[in-house]
Amino acid sequence: MGAAPGYSRRAVLRRLGTGALAAALSGCALGPGTGSAADSVMPLRAAAKAGRRRYGAAVSSELLGKDAGYRDLIRRECDIIVPEWEMKWYNIQKNPDRYDFSGCDKLAAFASENGMELRGHTLVWHLGLPDWAKTRLKEAQGRDVLHTWMNTLMTRYAGVVRSWDVVNEAVEPTDDRPDGLRESDWLAAFGTRYISDSFKMAAEIAPKAELVYNDYGTEHNARWSRDRRVAILRLLERVKGEGGRIDALGLQSHLRLGDPWDPKAFGEFLREVQDMGIKPIVTEMDVRADRASGDASAIDAKVADLYTSYLETVFANSRCDTVVTWGLTDRYTFQRRRYADDRPLPFDDDLNPKKAAAAVARILRDEG
Ligand code: G3I
Repeated sequence: MGAAPGYSRRAVLRRLGTGALAAALSGCALGPGTGSAADSVMPLRAAAKAGRRRYGAAVSSELLGKDAGYRDLIRRECDIIVPEWEMKWYNIQKNPDRYDFSGCDKLAAFASENGMELRGHTLVWHLGLPDWAKTRLKEAQGRDVLHTWMNTLMTRYAGVVRSWDVVNEAVEPTDDRPDGLRESDWLAAFGTRYISDSFKMAAEIAPKAELVYNDYGTEHNARWSRDRRVAILRLLERVKGEGGRIDALGLQSHLRLGDPWDPKAFGEFLREVQDMGIKPIVTEMDVRADRASGDASAIDAKVADLYTSYLETVFANSRCDTVVTWGLTDRYTFQRRRYADDRPLPFDDDLNPKKAAAAVARILRDEG
């Protein structure tokens, strides 16, 4: 692997410093995105380790199976992988009498083989339900149906999943409920206690697991985002008051250039959450650039700046120790379903690190 002229590997590693030497060497094997770009950015897995944190990305077993370069990149960069969609109830139990764990089993095996953690995403979600369950949950045995789903999944992956998104996206202030909760099949089936009941069930099934409430849209200077911050704080208090345990708040962090990012208000929100004894973690980060102007390099610089500002605000206002991006490379991002040229992730289509990867590596490593 030839380094660019005047850009020797030794020079790079000297800049990285000895501590990171071994880590960098382990990550910089001849693999995806080789060449000067890959050489000059510390692998995110190594950077996180140096900063006593963990970094991960959303994946799918299909893509890991068919793209060797992508698979090697995930191995080099990630401590954690999370199933982008394969662990959702609608995918695992399309019919009440049959489970399909094939995708999740492959991800669990890949994680174990590579010393990684598999994040559990997600048990209770208004968009995660198989159609048959929407009816069954509303019947007398509804609670048993929920318990069977949670118990079956959580016990199957007890050895490889340490952190579960127990409830996902349960607030929606625009539904105009006084409590800010989202109208859903869950609310219709069980009433407002479905949230604390789900956390109690999860704690009973996996007492040592990190139990997470996961949600989005808390980072802006806008009425809708302020209302979400208020509704989420009330939900966290409600669950605590009803005897449920939430260990961490999952900040999805689907950001978009041009949105009214508000680090001050967001920082205050994070401190309020942390003061409740709940640790914020970043669970689905990406930065949409669909409204950005300029060439790819200029857009990547703006994307990297928002990664930097956002993560610096998170680490300055909380004991966050986990950063997960919703994918790793622009080659595979759900954001391109909306805008085909989007560039929201740390690595480009050729699996080379972008400015965002360098920014995330520096922050994971340094902001201790
Ligand atoms: O790849 C399969 C294909 O083989 C199959 O033929 C086809 C038909 O079933 O499905 C394809 O899978 C789709 C998958 O995206 C990959 O494209 C699933 O149907 C589709 O449901 C899945 O959408 C996921 C969506 O959640 C709904 O589960 C997206 O990948 C995923 O990025 C998105 O993630 C959500 C988080 O869970 C919660 N926060 C917001 C985030 C973005 O919406």
